[in-house]
Amino acid sequence: MKSTISTVLVTGASRGLGFALITVGLAQGYNVVACSRAPESINIEHSNLLKLKVNVTDIDSVERAFKSAQRIFGNINIVINNAGYGLAGEFESYTIEEMHRQMDVNFWGVTYVTKEALNYMRESGTGGRILQISSVAGYYPSPCLSMYNASKFAIEGLSQTIMRELDQSWNIAITIVQPGGMQTEWAASNMQWSKAHPAYENDQSWRPFWKNYHGSEETDPNKAANLLYTIAQLDKPPQKLVLGYDSLELIRKQHQDIKQELEKNVALSTSVTRDDFDPDTVEILRQNLQSM
Ligand SMILES: NC(=O)c1ccc[n+]([C@@H]2O[C@H](COP(=O)([O-])OP(=O)(O)OC[C@H]3O[C@@H](n4cnc5c(N)ncnc54)[C@H](OP(=O)(O)O)[C@@H]3O)[C@@H](O)[C@H]2O)c1
Repeated sequence: MKSTISTVLVTGASRGLGFALITVGLAQGYNVVACSRAPESINIEHSNLLKLKVNVTDIDSVERAFKSAQRIFGNINIVINNAGYGLAGEFESYTIEEMHRQMDVNFWGVTYVTKEALNYMRESGTGGRILQISSVAGYYPSPCLSMYNASKFAIEGLSQTIMRELDQSWNIAITIVQPGGMQTEWAASNMQWSKAHPAYENDQSWRPFWKNYHGSEETDPNKAANLLYTIAQLDKPPQKLVLGYDSLELIRKQHQDIKQELEKNVALSTSVTRDDFDPDTVEILRQNLQSM
């Protein structure tokens, strides 16, 4: 697989996991396309490194990045949707502008890059791997991060649906990555805080938790970057990959809660069924789902 995978494109490359991904990629012999709002701040010079000024919220900027990468390196085999930030604060404290900005970067940015990546990988005939850096927050609701959660849930819904639309012969695989806390600037200087809403200034506020979170993150971004290259080289990469004990435990808990709630309410859920509905249809549906 490695012989056909030689170019990786990473968004949000100047810091944190993105920076780790470009250093590990170069060390492993890849051509690396580092997309950043501030490529000049990437303090590495390497013949296999192409630094591009890219704003993921601007579709033209994303399209230009794919064209440049193709022109310089001839192929794009792995695309890692990494750019993202957290908007912290209670939902009622957010301004409309803050909410749109969160979705513009974390959801629309990923959407634009994914569209370009799929088009390129399918048309080139070589296929490829797309890694979506979601979060534990793409599955587990984290108080004080509602729009961040919404953006990561949205990436997951989008990506899981796309996975089902892809023709297997195209050899394109998407992996959703769900890190727990990673030791980067995400929870520190890069966290955007809304102005506190007076109604939520009480003992139940999660603001102190997130204000003090930085420093206790579990995951080492360099180890994560190494693992992501291993995953990208698999013939059948996982559709979802949890990173860290913290993410694993929170996702297990959420999974269990969802299952319990679902089963508890089966009678309510099915109480709306038409009187003339044929129950055999349900069995057929079950069997069809087993084969999907
Ligand atoms: N650290 C964690 O605990 C954690 C946990 C779960 C998921 N994640 C996710 O992991 C990914 C990488 O984050 P990180 O931990 O490496 O954090 P980071 O150190 O803050 O780096 C995030 C990168 O995203 C880009 N970015 C940040 N704010 C942006 C904005 N307002 N507009 C556009 N781009 C912006 C930046 O790229 P440029 O400046 O180069 O453009 C930056 O290099 C993100 O998607 C994040 O949501 C992080």
